[in-house]
Amino acid sequence: TQAVGLVGWRGMVGSVLMQRMRDEGDFSLFQPVFFSTSNAGGAAPSWADGAGPLQDAHDIDALKKLPIIVTAQGGDYTSQIYPKLRAAGWNGLWIDAASTLRMDENSVIVLDPINRPVIDAALAKGGKQFIGGNCTVSCMLMGLGGLFNQNLVEWMTSMTYQAASGGGAQHMRELLTQFGLINQSVASLLDDPASAILDIDRGVLQTQRDPNLPQKNFGVPLGGSLIPWIDSDLGNGMTREEWKGGVETNKILGRGAQDKHIPIDGLCVRIGAMRCHSQALTIKLTRDVPLDEITDILAEGSKWAKVVPNERQATIEALTPVAVTGTLDIPVGRLRKLNMGPEYLSAFTVGDQLLWGAAEPLRRMLRIALG
Ligand code: HSE
Repeated sequence: TQAVGLVGWRGMVGSVLMQRMRDEGDFSLFQPVFFSTSNAGGAAPSWADGAGPLQDAHDIDALKKLPIIVTAQGGDYTSQIYPKLRAAGWNGLWIDAASTLRMDENSVIVLDPINRPVIDAALAKGGKQFIGGNCTVSCMLMGLGGLFNQNLVEWMTSMTYQAASGGGAQHMRELLTQFGLINQSVASLLDDPASAILDIDRGVLQTQRDPNLPQKNFGVPLGGSLIPWIDSDLGNGMTREEWKGGVETNKILGRGAQDKHIPIDGLCVRIGAMRCHSQALTIKLTRDVPLDEITDILAEGSKWAKVVPNERQATIEALTPVAVTGTLDIPVGRLRKLNMGPEYLSAFTVGDQLLWGAAEPLRRMLRIALG
């Protein structure tokens, strides 16, 4: 069996990746070599039978021995190590969760249920960089892929509702700390049914605006609020997260060429959810397709896309971060034609950004690479 180097397996994305690989029996297919940036020589995880001690993730000679490396260590690690590894003559496959190499012309963004032909074509041509997509993009395509692959999307806008986990583990902790402190600050008023709601509201606001409220990660309070800006400023009014929506979707679909490019743009918003990204989509269809056909096309688009009837009870039960967290399902609902005309479709979708948004495409790419 082949050896596979694993880097960044202990972090949040890495832990979800390891759990998924264990659940699916992936470790029976290769010999894992665990790397660490901080604990070389330490013991491999106890569940990995027979794996040797942790190797140094900065040791190019050690990395060079592996025909395949999977990393969820993050963009800084990729920037630092990847060029050195290639410069040292390494010829193996690099499977990476970080965005660093995504738009590189030698990279494929992997989402095999949607773009397996793009992956296979790259492998056949000797491609060696297989990179997981932006979480919002991957979750959207797992739900809406059917429409794209049937050439039914003329353009699309997305309004996102992105969870704290997209920022990282510390962001999730900070959100919960904020919620807790806000609750504590009005707990006695809440306990008293006779208290005035506007007094409670005033207390909440005072805590949210208190400069001592922990907010180092988000920069401002998120608990009981929202932040309509994600990632860096591209200087043209667009955020980097919004830019990714257009370029990555097209790249995943193999629509890089200008004539095949589908305009996709939107507005990305951080909300106080834990680990599911949600998005409201407005789609201009290339033609008037009846809703029942759209439902079939979406359901057939991937095994994980689940159409939710556009009814109140079904929607509030199935189309939320709480319902979806920890599952691979990508529900798509609120499907209806908008007042603008029969070619304008509204949709809402939710996906676990640590599963389809990060870990799952990587473990599936590893399986494809192992043959
Ligand atoms: N950039 C995403 C977010 C997460 O901040 O939600 C990683 O794809």
